[in-house]
Amino acid sequence: MRRKIAAGNWKMNGTSAALAELAAMAADLPKEPPKVVICPPAPLLFRAVEATRTTGISIGAQDCHMQASGAFTGDISAEMVADTGAAYVIVGHSERRDAHEETNADVRNKAEAAHAAGLTPIICIGEALEDREANNTLDIIGGQLAGSLPDDVSASNTVVAYEPIWAIGTGKVPSLEQIVEVHDYIRAELVHRYGNTIGNAVPLLYGGSVKADNAALIFEAENVDGALVGGASLKAADFIPIVAALA
Ligand code: G3P
Repeated sequence: MRRKIAAGNWKMNGTSAALAELAAMAADLPKEPPKVVICPPAPLLFRAVEATRTTGISIGAQDCHMQASGAFTGDISAEMVADTGAAYVIVGHSERRDAHEETNADVRNKAEAAHAAGLTPIICIGEALEDREANNTLDIIGGQLAGSLPDDVSASNTVVAYEPIWAIGTGKVPSLEQIVEVHDYIRAELVHRYGNTIGNAVPLLYGGSVKADNAALIFEAENVDGALVGGASLKAADFIPIVAALA
């Protein structure tokens, strides 16, 4: 049985007032919840860890630097993320690949830095609309997997999130067949590279306009082990039904 994970990416949303949502989420978790991970903005990490200490919710960062320390003004190392008590870190989100020109090699280095700090990276991959329209989706995904995933992936230290860029924040969701095709392909690539035991154990999340009303359908796919949720993770009332659909 693979781990089921409902992860929320708050992106650049939320000040300390948003910590109340964590308490609301914790209060409303279903009886046997999947792993729940919330990734708030970096300034909230310490307090988010405190606020969720006795709950089933884990905290993650939205990025980390690939270097352990040094003259990188404004950046945050994986060790610093781990020092807050966070357990996860998103790396390679398409918004960072785009706005910060992060390459597959950068993402791989960040994932390695996360592993060295004892964090679980949630490694994001996904095609742009033009890639999909040109029927290049699987080539793009294959290239991102090969380039962004480190060699030291184990059964428990890595999560992969497939987020088609055109589905992020748009309300457009791929058909179940499209999600199944990509997730099955990712699973096969993981098995090919890491072998059966590890390749079959790494959780694969889908991300892109996941909401309470489409989550159950998306979770029907065999190789979808959960979701990486943006907008609908900001409020407990929107996020808990998604968590419940996975439970
Ligand atoms: O990382 C999650 C994200 O990119 C999806 O965002 O708002 O479409 O759920 P959203």
